Amino acid sequence: MRVIIQKDYDKCAKWAANYIANKIKVARPTAAKPFVLGLPTGSTPMGVYKELVNMFKSGKLSFQHVVTFSMDEYIGLDLDHPQSYAHFMFENLYNHIDIKKENINILNGMTKDYAKECATYESKMRHYGGVNLFFGGIGTDGHIAFNEPGSSLTSRTRVKTLTQETREDNSRFFGNNINKVPKTVLTVGVGTIMDAEEVLIMASGASKAQAIHDTIEEGVNHMCAASALQMHQHGIIVCDDAACSKLLPKTVDYFKQIENLKFEGV
Ligand code: GLP
Repeated sequence: MRVIIQKDYDKCAKWAANYIANKIKVARPTAAKPFVLGLPTGSTPMGVYKELVNMFKSGKLSFQHVVTFSMDEYIGLDLDHPQSYAHFMFENLYNHIDIKKENINILNGMTKDYAKECATYESKMRHYGGVNLFFGGIGTDGHIAFNEPGSSLTSRTRVKTLTQETREDNSRFFGNNINKVPKTVLTVGVGTIMDAEEVLIMASGASKAQAIHDTIEEGVNHMCAASALQMHQHGIIVCDDAACSKLLPKTVDYFKQIENLKFEGV
């Protein structure tokens, strides 16, 4: 696992955006072989999306041959609902870049056939030859996408019930009214994310410190879905000082040292 420790949120967002942009450019995607990108919602990716939009606007990056898969969606919220994840993605990214509509994949929270919706999502990913890079945030309980504690680490796209903690965390998007936060969601599985060639998780702020400690310093455990990253060959966590505040000093020093040596070309 690669752990990139940055001073603050802005630096993490820049790092993640540059990483994603570079991966797209290096892949030289075409219509026949697009770059497949998994994407999250939440506060964490907002700065990253801003950077990516700026890169597009300044002509440095194109999404013409990028195919995206959103991580998750609330059940019962449609595309026009201001808190739906689909709406979030259009508002914060898709409306501002040159991505083709047919290349945007979003789970339909209004579906009447959950099993079919989830199976189709998985088969679409396979159709493209899998996801090149899955970018994600992390919940305070260590969840990735909406894989709450206890999620199988080999899980696929499916229905999940949210924990009280996650509904409380996310109530800030619903006028601080937890009763308005849906109880169930559609989400890609931990296994779905782990199948990607690369996984990049970003974490910022002290509220994520326990999750980052559990992810990096504790064992692989379904009570912290992000800990599955320990089993991934190309897992990266980019986090700020506050999110690292529960890591041992020697852990922080070691990961910083590795990155400094890389910078020196070792
Ligand atoms: C939600 C999303 C996750 C996200 C997490 C953290 O539960 N399903 O994909 O990573 O919240 O959100 P935030 O970035 O707002 O802290």
